[in-house]
This record gives sequence, structure tokens and C-alpha cells, in this order.
Amino acid sequence: MDKKVTKIGVLTSGGDSPGMNAAIRAVVRTGLYNNLEVFGITRGYMGMIDDDIVPMHSRSVANIIQRGGTILKSARCKEFYEFEGRKKAYENLRKHGIEGLVVIGGDGSFRGAQKFATEFDIPCIGLPGTIDKDMAGTDFTIGFDTAVNTAVEAIDKIRDTADAHDRLFIIEVMGRDSGYIALHSGIATGAENILIPEAKTNIEDLIASLEDKQRRKKLVNLIVVAEGDEFGGAEEVAKVVRQRLPDMDTRVCILGHIQRGGSPSCIDRLVASRLGYAAVEALMEGRHNVMIGIINNKLHYTPLDLAVKAKQKIDKEWLKIVKILAS
Ligand code: F6P
Repeated sequence: MDKKVTKIGVLTSGGDSPGMNAAIRAVVRTGLYNNLEVFGITRGYMGMIDDDIVPMHSRSVANIIQRGGTILKSARCKEFYEFEGRKKAYENLRKHGIEGLVVIGGDGSFRGAQKFATEFDIPCIGLPGTIDKDMAGTDFTIGFDTAVNTAVEAIDKIRDTADAHDRLFIIEVMGRDSGYIALHSGIATGAENILIPEAKTNIEDLIASLEDKQRRKKLVNLIVVAEGDEFGGAEEVAKVVRQRLPDMDTRVCILGHIQRGGSPSCIDRLVASRLGYAAVEALMEGRHNVMIGIINNKLHYTPLDLAVKAKQKIDKEWLKIVKILAS
């Protein structure tokens, strides 16, 4: 039988995402409500190794639900890849009496948690916190909704200037391995083409569709490219387009890290609050080494090893819809 947890730790790891603060707040306040001691660990696994671990109180998480970034800060930690690093981290957690851990992050962070939890007797609960939405076992990841809305707002602005000058804009959005931000923001802004890592980019088809639009005097064109598209980013695509269609007035805009910041959307705050609450309940119920997600509005528990292996699949029907709607 699992022993009752009385002290838990929470950390954020990997690329930050809007809503991480709302998740921290929910973990801290749900823990305190249940008479648990809650510790905040700064800079992800780095803080575990460096013993940067502090008790959290209700006021420690006041006035953060609306803030982007993460008050616990985040980092990618090479030392945690090594057993020695993980052992040091474990010893520090034990020193504080921490018996359960909530890890808010993406697949890299869960890989670390999975390894740690199989070597040491500290149960880990993962909450999907990434703007990339590249995790199986959940319909939502904390931060995706805000990031995609940031991209939509920016692309709408680009459309104004594109229209004023009859230009083609090739816009690069984030997504090292995932096309979700590109797909959602591209559809929502009426992009002509969307290039994502999950679908092979046929540059000849792209050129043909631009030529067709030129013939039909469709002068405003927006192409949204995920940074991880196998053809390359926006600059690579622009190089070919400029070579093949020199008459087209082509510009590149890389949205970059603005997609990671900003005040979280209502959806991200709700998802983060619900998941943070659920993470504490899960630790108290004796669950371990699972990622908690939401599928069809119900909590869904995926073993950490599966959560890091499986990817969310993109429905290719969307790409067909893009072509039809942008005609
Ligand atoms: O948060 C995920 C992500 O935004 C990827 O899409 C992107 O490639 C990466 O983070 C960049 O992160 P960093 O600049 O922190 O290395």
C-alpha cells in the first residue's frame, strides 16, 4: 500500500508556456487546502540538484494567475541526464522530506521524470506544459491556446501590410517537431499554404499554387511554416520562391519567442487550474508516474513512458480544408 504523502514539490521545466503560473498556483493552494507542505523548486531539475527548494505559502502564489512565464523559472538541465545528478537531486528532496513531485513541462521534462521515478521512490505526476501541443494523452497542453492566439494576432497584422503592398508573406511560427501552432494559426488567419513537419512539403505544388494565384490576380498571400518543417524554415522556403517567382514581392517574418510569453488565455488558465488541482489529488490517491491530461472534458492519466513516446496525430483532412478555403 502506498504511504500517505505529506510533503510535495512542484517545478517547471523545459520551454516555458503561458499558464504555468496558474498551474503552480493550483498545486500550491490545493496542497495547502489538504494540509500538505508544498515546496517550490526553482529552475526545474537544476533546482533539485542545487537544493534551490523553498516552502510555498498561499501568498507565494498571489497575483500570478494572469502572468506569463513561470515564477519558479525554468531550465534545461544536462546534469539530470546523468545518474549522479539524479541521485543528488533525490538526496536533496529527501532532505526536505518531499514524497511526491509535480513536474510541469513538455516531453523532455517527462523523460527526466520517468527516469527519476523508476530509480528512486518519489512518485512523479506530469502536467503537459508546452506551447507545442505535441503530447499524446491530452486534448490540451498548458500554453498552446495562448501561443496560437498570439500567432493569430500577429498574422492578422501582417495581413494588413501584405494587403497594402500586394505582397507574399512567409511567416514562421514555433514548433520544432510539431505543426499544431502552424496549422491552427494558419487556418484561423486564412493562410493559403501551411507547411508542417507532419506532412511532406512538396515545393513544386507550392510554386504551382502561387503561380495559379498570380494568374488569378490574387495578390495577398500568406504562407505559414512551422519552424520544424523538414523543407526548412521560412527563409528556406523564401529562397526557392524568390528564385522561381522573382516577380512576386516576397517577405519573411519569423514570429519567434513572442509566442512563448504573454498573459495566458482563459482556456489556458482553466486547464492549468484543473490540472494543478488534479495533480495534488493524484499524489494523495497514491498515483505515480503518470501525466494528467484532459480528453473529451475528462481527466485522463497516461503513464509517463507512453506520454513521452506517443505523439498527437494531426488530422490531414485539415490540410485539404486549407486548400479549399484559400482558393
Ligand atoms: O517550447 C517549445 C519550443 O517553443 C519549440 O517550438 C522551439 O523550437 C523551442 O521551444 C525553442 O526553445 P528555446 O529557445 O528555449 O531553446
